[in-house]
Amino acid sequence: MKTINKLSSYKELSSTVADIVEEQITKHPLSKLVLPTGSTPLGMYEELVNKKLDWSTVITFNLDAYLMNITHPQSYQSYMKKNLFDRTNIYPNHSHFPFRPFSAFEDKIVGSMGIDLCILGIGTNGHIAFNEPGSSFDSRTRVVHLDEQTIKDNSRFFGSVDDVPTQAITMGLGTIMDSKKIVLMANGVNKLNILNVAMNGEVTEDVPASILQRHDNVEVFYCD
Ligand code: PGA
Repeated sequence: MKTINKLSSYKELSSTVADIVEEQITKHPLSKLVLPTGSTPLGMYEELVNKKLDWSTVITFNLDAYLMNITHPQSYQSYMKKNLFDRTNIYPNHSHFPFRPFSAFEDKIVGSMGIDLCILGIGTNGHIAFNEPGSSFDSRTRVVHLDEQTIKDNSRFFGSVDDVPTQAITMGLGTIMDSKKIVLMANGVNKLNILNVAMNGEVTEDVPASILQRHDNVEVFYCD
């Protein structure tokens, strides 16, 4: 079981997680971070940009990326440029999206002494990154087909369901679990049920986020 820390507002959720990132990179300027996309972390990125931190020695890895043209406005590469990378002094060659060959991407993480802090969101189906229900707990970085529920949920960012990419590259559950510290953020009542199931229910591949119960340095923050 993991404690779900309930915060009073989206602003507090964003600032709480931004403060954790700030502490990490201020105390350890050579930190390696794993970063999420989606609607939940937008406030956190805004807070981080406003802190005007020194990102010059920080290395980042993104959790996942749609298989699509990376210059498309809804690509996760565009999202990160717009919300963080173009607004900080992070070096372009210090920020990585999952790439092929996947073994080289995994080696890059290991070669940089592993991940110090991994920030995650959670899907309404219990996914973390694009590890959809049924993903192996041992999974590593790979190509996945998106779940019908994920495509439906993410259609709000696209013109229609038909425009949502159907495939993505995602870090695996095993890759995520190798992180030294993990913070999961969830915003909205539509996430509460799955969050409870994942943190207090059975640890099962049917609920990918439930694997976090097996990690000894996880913090979970929620606001409705
Ligand atoms: P969201 O996505 O922040 O847009 O709700 C979270 C996720 O799917 O991991």
